Amino acid sequence: MVVAGRGIIEAMDPEELRREGVRFIEWLADFHERVESLPVRSQNRPGDVRAQLPQSAPQDPESYAEILSDVERIIEPGLTHWQSPNFFAYFPANISAASVFGELMSAGFGVQGMLWTTSPSCTELETHMLDWMQDALGLPVHFNSKGEGGGVIQDSASSATLCAMLAARERATEGESNIRGLFGGAPLVAYGTEHAHSSLEKAARICGVGSSQLHLIEVDDQLAMRPEELDRRIREDIEAGLRPFFVNAVVGTTSTNAIDPLPGVAQVCRAHGVWLHVDAAMSGIAALCPEFRKIHDGVEGADSYTVNAHKWMLTNFDCNLFWVRSRAALTGALGLLPEYLNNRASASGEVIDYRDWQIPLGRRFRALKLWFVLRRFGLQGLQALVRGHVALAMEFAGWVTAHPDFELSFAVPLNLVCFRHLDSDDFNQRLLERVNDSGKLYLTHTKIDGVMLLRMSIGGANTNRAHVERAWSVLVATASELRAADEGA
Ligand SMILES: Cc1ncc(COP(=O)(O)O)c(C=O)c1O
Repeated sequence: MVVAGRGIIEAMDPEELRREGVRFIEWLADFHERVESLPVRSQNRPGDVRAQLPQSAPQDPESYAEILSDVERIIEPGLTHWQSPNFFAYFPANISAASVFGELMSAGFGVQGMLWTTSPSCTELETHMLDWMQDALGLPVHFNSKGEGGGVIQDSASSATLCAMLAARERATEGESNIRGLFGGAPLVAYGTEHAHSSLEKAARICGVGSSQLHLIEVDDQLAMRPEELDRRIREDIEAGLRPFFVNAVVGTTSTNAIDPLPGVAQVCRAHGVWLHVDAAMSGIAALCPEFRKIHDGVEGADSYTVNAHKWMLTNFDCNLFWVRSRAALTGALGLLPEYLNNRASASGEVIDYRDWQIPLGRRFRALKLWFVLRRFGLQGLQALVRGHVALAMEFAGWVTAHPDFELSFAVPLNLVCFRHLDSDDFNQRLLERVNDSGKLYLTHTKIDGVMLLRMSIGGANTNRAHVERAWSVLVATASELRAADEGA
């Protein structure tokens, strides 16, 4: 039965929050106690979750006990456990109690920070956190909000790259693209390598640049962009009457963690007046440690830069950090003021309205969880985490190198190890499937020049040496079993 309350119905009852909140926190605490024992990759088949859900929404209210029991029965088996210490797939998306509390507070405040005036704390804490992070990562001061640049939290690195490209398009067309679209001008051309994240091509499509005007630059033997090739291609394109406007350099490619040489790339961009965007989605977090900061050599030449706190910095998804050298370039591309949003603070020019720094209008209070994480762990805690993961990756790489049946595919700059069994691609594929089906661990693959590689990505909040050692034992043992089966067949 619907309960009458202080509003039309009883929706946000402080007493209920107090009483029932404990139930959910306790359930989550228990879940985290047992997550290590669960199969890492969900063993569901397609349709398993939906088959257990009623055809339509309930007419009558249900109890939290009923809801939670279905979470356990229906939802949990359909989860792949990204927070398992045996999760080594993709890139990490690690979390912490501090970020969960930040997220909870954000949801509980229920504010929408589209304008400074719709919640000053939401905007000002965000600006401040991005300044803290600019400093903590050793990024150039031109990204600090005290100058002409500044940072903003986006939902994802993909959105950051799209916003960067829109700002670059606006700059290259001197404001025309917002008014006339791309009609009539010389075609705009963007650059990256084939190892850049697919969000680059998606951005090119959305921006009206098109996949075919995304020119892929040759790479060296470590799959990093060759600046002299970039320069040659840009010259060629200018000669052909095209308009080069955007270069995407990656610090830590998704497939193999390759690092594009920023000093050389930045020099080429400067020479041709082209916008340089740096996508450091996961690996940029390593720069919290001074000894890894060399990954950012040359970043002074960047017009924009992005990194995900929601990958390797204990802050639950979503929390992408994005900086621009010139906030005017970004707001020039994305700023619009319908009358109903007009207000005294915005008109004063003294405040930031982050709606002009992103695609959607509405925005969540994401800075809160970042603030909680930075305060709870301190930079020293976060540095220890990064150092620990990198050390484990180096150790794992050592085991691969020492084993006669496996080989390391690329140098290991940070926490991702690409390797393969010396047998065929088909063998590596079967090895991957078998270890993932076992539920004991989860890792994923990539293909480079058509060759199948396994990726061991180490970044779980609770992953320690024992987990990495066990993963290696499972891989070696499974490879032996497969070999024996193949030889017996
Ligand atoms: C280099 C790189 N860029 C961008 C992305 C996309 O990140 P997001 O999921 O935040 O859009 C990834 C994801 O792994 C990535 O590795």
